[in-house]
Amino acid sequence: MDVKGKNFTRFLDRQKLYKTQRDAKAIGKQHSKGKLTAWERLDILFDEDSFEEIDAYVTADRTDTGFGKVKQAYGDGVIIGHGMIRGRLAFAYSQDFTVMGGSLGSVHATKIMKIQEMAQKMGAPMIGLIDSGGARIQEGVASLAGYAGIFYRNVQSSGVIPQISVIMGPAAGGAVYSPSITDFVFMTNQTSYMFVTGPNVVKEVLNEDVSLNDLGGAGIHSKKSGVAHMVFEDEENTLMGVRHLLSYLPANNMENPPEMELSEDETKDIEEKLRDIVPDDANKPYDVKDVINLITDKRSFYEISENYAQNVVIGFARLDGKVIGIIANQPKVLAGTLDINSSTKGARFIRFCDAFNVPLLILEDVPGFLPGIDQEHNGIIRHGAKMLYAFADSTVPRITVILRKSYGGAYCVMNSKNLGGDFNFAWPTAEIAVMGPEGAVAILYRKELEASDDPVAMKKELATKYRKEIANPYVADERGFIDEVIDPAGTRLKLIRAYEALENKFMNNPARKHGNIPL
Ligand code: HXC
Repeated sequence: MDVKGKNFTRFLDRQKLYKTQRDAKAIGKQHSKGKLTAWERLDILFDEDSFEEIDAYVTADRTDTGFGKVKQAYGDGVIIGHGMIRGRLAFAYSQDFTVMGGSLGSVHATKIMKIQEMAQKMGAPMIGLIDSGGARIQEGVASLAGYAGIFYRNVQSSGVIPQISVIMGPAAGGAVYSPSITDFVFMTNQTSYMFVTGPNVVKEVLNEDVSLNDLGGAGIHSKKSGVAHMVFEDEENTLMGVRHLLSYLPANNMENPPEMELSEDETKDIEEKLRDIVPDDANKPYDVKDVINLITDKRSFYEISENYAQNVVIGFARLDGKVIGIIANQPKVLAGTLDINSSTKGARFIRFCDAFNVPLLILEDVPGFLPGIDQEHNGIIRHGAKMLYAFADSTVPRITVILRKSYGGAYCVMNSKNLGGDFNFAWPTAEIAVMGPEGAVAILYRKELEASDDPVAMKKELATKYRKEIANPYVADERGFIDEVIDPAGTRLKLIRAYEALENKFMNNPARKHGNIPL
């Protein structure tokens, strides 16, 4: 810059200092761990040259608390600002592990709160790139207060703007609770981990040895705890994944999700394969993701929480260019039964879609709730109710297609007509009844079966009769609990027209402070 005068000298000196504080040693340390720096990450996340940093020169108080002075650095270990992602406005903060391990002190927290407030005020997504040792020990209670302030703003923004957390290194202690409140958590394999208390504390308190990865790595959180929704192999792909996810989301709860023009070949090719997808043998599994991919626009399905509670499949997709949220039972895993984890997974996704005007599609093939002591003792009653509550409470368009099994309580839960389903369709392969044929026959004909010379043959015969007369879609269709039994090959077109009919759906639940979802 060709400028003169002492005012500009200071301006330029500060810029120089800011650049030199990003020293080669610290950067090398990040890179040697397979991690990028805070600013390299922002360069990938945002469209080229679009990120504008603010508050780059604020610094922490240097008061020595007795545990060492806080290292003074411009920006205090976090970059905040705004920019464009695929041409749409977004706000972000990115923690800089090279400054005191990305730990959160008072100034660092104030910066994050400032950008959170801006994102909410402007109605644009808020993305946190987290790489932090947690509360800055030297700053004591001021750090804890900072976290509380961030959590408060996370909660205020919940359901107003999409909030995404990307774990890019440690997220220790207080650093975990902001992500857990946000809508989607991304992690990177091998280089990111989340825990409330680290391996050292676990050793001290419980005398148990555990590695960082086994305690809170991406594998644990995407498969076992369900904390992480998306996992990628490296940071670049993780950040590209965030950009992709945002293409399905509206900027805020007052807008609709962005639409896409369909290229012609995507509207053709309605797959007759759908007619053959459900096997003749009712106990044979199939992959419900094949159904999703055949019904929705090509390559549009963006699965969420792919590795957690795989008996339910959730994700965004496009139908004729318009975004929908899908909740589908997966017959390939646990026969598609609903259990504690799949119920909470489904419920949270339904709540997100409802908050952000994403219409719901439910693909149903569920034999019932998973039986067992473990499930009952751990509260399947309480957790199963979450899914039920989430459907009944949501006001976005909701359409169910029963592909095969729809038995018992699971029939009610999966967006049945009386739970407020707008359109309820069934394929001819649907089995809708209080329970499956074998179970029903065993109860209804217990005495007769005991007295029979050939109970096996008798049971088989009665089960066939039950299937023909009761466990089919036609009884529900004739009673109006199903709007139409449809040809599987025509499902896509049927859905496109049904969502068109629901485009102006407008309804409000009764006025109240808030409902009391069973948590
Ligand atoms: C101050 C911290 C810090 C912290 C790390 N550093 N964490 N400084 N407060 N919380 C500093 C280190 O002193 C070091 O400074 C630099 O960051 C890099 O840290 P290293 O330990 O050298 O890095 P690494 O080996 O990669 O280990 C990273 C780590 C470890 C696993 C995150 O630093 C660690 O265990 N930190 C503490 C994690 C923790 O228990 N946090 C919970 C805080 S309590 P120098 O000067 O040497 O470079 C909390 C409660 C809030 O958060 C509750 C709210 C609900």
